[in-house]
Amino acid sequence: FASQPSSLVSPNPSYSDEEHADVDWDSLGFGLMPTDYMYITKCCEGQSFGQGQLTRYGNIELSPSAGVLNYGQVCFKLFTSKGLFEGTKAYRKDNGGLLLFRPEQNAIRMQIGAERMCMASPSVDQFVDALKQTVLANKRWVPPPGKGSLYLRPLLLGTGPVLGLAPAPEYTFLIFASPVRNYFKEGSSPLNLYVEENFDRASRLGTGNVKTISNYAPVLRAQMNAKRRGFSDVLYLDSAAKKYLEEVSSCNIFIAKGKCISTPATNGTILSGITRKSVIEIATDHGYKVEERGVDVDELIEADEVFCTGTAVGVAPVGTITYRDTRMEYKTGSGSICQELQNTISGIQTGIIEDKRGWIV
Ligand code: COI
Repeated sequence: FASQPSSLVSPNPSYSDEEHADVDWDSLGFGLMPTDYMYITKCCEGQSFGQGQLTRYGNIELSPSAGVLNYGQVCFKLFTSKGLFEGTKAYRKDNGGLLLFRPEQNAIRMQIGAERMCMASPSVDQFVDALKQTVLANKRWVPPPGKGSLYLRPLLLGTGPVLGLAPAPEYTFLIFASPVRNYFKEGSSPLNLYVEENFDRASRLGTGNVKTISNYAPVLRAQMNAKRRGFSDVLYLDSAAKKYLEEVSSCNIFIAKGKCISTPATNGTILSGITRKSVIEIATDHGYKVEERGVDVDELIEADEVFCTGTAVGVAPVGTITYRDTRMEYKTGSGSICQELQNTISGIQTGIIEDKRGWIV
């Protein structure tokens, strides 16, 4: 596979369902369904990643002293984590062709994250080429049109051995894939969020804007507590004033009031989502006034709509938010801004709507 051409499958007039893996596509959620191949390459500190290869999906061998194991899970929050990840998706067009959405944006974000975490990172071309190879090798796992997408999980790991706190001497770049559909168990129904005040997600000058594994394990306790109480997930506030919206555990947040849409500015504590930035561009083109700024939690009271954005989540409507003792309800469904934006972005991602911005590969 290493010498496969790196262009994706071109439209195939004879595309048929028989080309798919034997999966009950209608019951697809967001659980891991291992596919045939993963992409893997390594490099030493200070060098570039060499030509990677596709290998059968399976376990990887790690030294017990691998940086990712020793400093990867938030014992120390600053500078120490040695695991970055990305998330992107491959979509199937009606004619069987396969599409990626803005994959170079994931590559750039991984490079920025790697710089912050003192890690080596693949070039944009290598990253995108590796994604293409992974999709091609697993093409039978890309769901039929309208049934989901192939989630691609690029990982950058410090796999070289360390004992003292220092950058790992070797890095592994790996991509694996899994077919997915709705991220939340609510499916496409509105989410019920809870404003979290007992836990912080990120701190000023920390790494909240980096897609590092150390941002995700710490949200699990709050998320589990909220789920136990019947909520879909939690919405975090800033750690200093506990006044401004930050993000949900796995996605960004938007509020809408009339023709104005607002989302927290990316000031270092929230993730610069690719769906977030695409939705901002689409909404602006659709005539909305879009503001990136501090969004006060009290604005949730007056908002007409709230929605979340993310690669895994897509553009997901929020039906209610509970803040202290108050439960606020929002417009969702037909005629909502959320649905308009969701239809547009997923139309572009699946080739139904013309891609005028050059986002599709
Ligand atoms: C994504 O949206 O792709 C993410 O990486 C979030 C993750 C928690 C599923």
